[in-house]
Amino acid sequence: MKKILMVSSEAVPFIKTGGLADVVGSLPRYFNKEEYDVRIILPKYACMDQRFLPDLQFVCHFYVNLNWRKQYAGIFKTEYKGVTYYFVDNEFYFAGNNPYNNIHEDIEKFAFFSKAVLMALPYIDFCPDVIHCNDWQTGLVPVLLKTDFCKDSYYVGMKTVFSIHNMKFQGRWHVRDVMDITGLPASIFTADKLESYGEANYLKGGCVYADAISTVSPSYASDITTPEGGEGLDGLLSARRDSLYGIVNGIDYDDFNPATDAAMVEHFSIDNVVDGKKANKRALQQSMGLPEKENAFLIGMVSRLTDQKGFDLVAYVMEEMLSTMDVQFVVLGTGEYRFEEMFHYFQSKYPDKISSYIGYSEEKAHQIYASCDAFLMPSLFEPCGLSQMMSMRYGTLPIVRETGGLKDTVEPYNEYENKGTGFSFAAYNAHDMMHVIKYANYVFSNQKEQWNGIVKRAMKTDFSWDASARKYEELYDKLILQ
Ligand code: ADP
Ligand code: GLC
Repeated sequence: MKKILMVSSEAVPFIKTGGLADVVGSLPRYFNKEEYDVRIILPKYACMDQRFLPDLQFVCHFYVNLNWRKQYAGIFKTEYKGVTYYFVDNEFYFAGNNPYNNIHEDIEKFAFFSKAVLMALPYIDFCPDVIHCNDWQTGLVPVLLKTDFCKDSYYVGMKTVFSIHNMKFQGRWHVRDVMDITGLPASIFTADKLESYGEANYLKGGCVYADAISTVSPSYASDITTPEGGEGLDGLLSARRDSLYGIVNGIDYDDFNPATDAAMVEHFSIDNVVDGKKANKRALQQSMGLPEKENAFLIGMVSRLTDQKGFDLVAYVMEEMLSTMDVQFVVLGTGEYRFEEMFHYFQSKYPDKISSYIGYSEEKAHQIYASCDAFLMPSLFEPCGLSQMMSMRYGTLPIVRETGGLKDTVEPYNEYENKGTGFSFAAYNAHDMMHVIKYANYVFSNQKEQWNGIVKRAMKTDFSWDASARKYEELYDKLILQ
């Protein structure tokens, strides 16, 4: 049995701020259980879903030395859907009502977490062949393993994969402070290791010291080797091109299933999607306070409200779209104040055309994926993106910008060959986006047969984890044999 430990700062159903949690919480269930024992380790945040607290069993505790600091680490364990989860407990670091606070605190918090993860292994009696780390919060795991823990025979031969879910967030802080926090020697804070543009950089550490680097779509794997997409680390990623893998994310086909989803008012499958969607669309229009118009082109958005997701394009043409087109928008999201305010403004000006829910709601998200005609995701960059796949699973057609994973998962509609699973535009330009929304609206309103054909192709596309889990297995095997 090959042993794999996934290290992450979030995973559903315990704690989630974005797609990373969906990925880490679902992928491990799709490995071949005869061959791979895949377990997950997370921080035990005070803000984790409280319903799971009674299930957590205390395993052990030890003390983590972080330079001059000595900190308690408790290890808890539970099983969820057949997968073992471990939690690192420390009430000082993992307090608060969000997993992430300010970067200075997070730098120390995740240094502690990374060291505690490695120290926990002999205590939990799980000696992994591969440690699979995710994003900057876990970047120090490969660094500590290769520079320090490898001196202990228990750790010799362990391999590491470092998965990048978003290059934008790198975990950067002053070198002097990071040296003080971690106790790592000055010799590793050089430009070929942890130092980047004068700062210590955890993501860079992960990329330098891991045996393999992966990211969440083939296009993003290539984007990050360019100055436009590399966020300053394109040189390093180009140099490590031979160890860089792009493996597209999947979605959880049990949680996102139009035939069983508890958030829907009527279930449907590919055979009755057209009728099945009608009742859901009506219910969503009603719950969001929009006129119940069957023929209005209903566009959904579920997103963190940040620059990454293309909201400045939306801001640029929203007035024009709302004043000239027969469309309705439903928006679910939280994030930057200026975007939250933008949606409040348009909602007060065009209450019959746009309704926003500024907040976080799993149920509303499912209702939007299931009930809208189209889903808008005009991202500036997108490592993979899960929302467009979730929409397609429910026959809601994505309108996306061709970048990263959006390019890899949405095939643009081609009216001549009657192909495609959605609509897309290439340049980061608000009017290009608006034109493609108008075109989608035209097909929806005037070419029902073609529209329904796209809906069925979208629903048929396989976004389950099956294929990608095999690719991770191949990658683990390759490293284990090295
Ligand atoms: P990212 O991780 O960059 O935010 P993804 O598309 O990979 O983007 O994943 C976003 C995940 O977060 C999806 O599961 C989406 O449904 C969910 N999500 C985003 N915003 C909200 C919200 N306000 N309420 C509920 N779910 C949300
Ligand atoms: C990040 C990316 C998103 C990706 C998710 C899961 O949050 O922004 O594109 O789908 O991670 O890998």
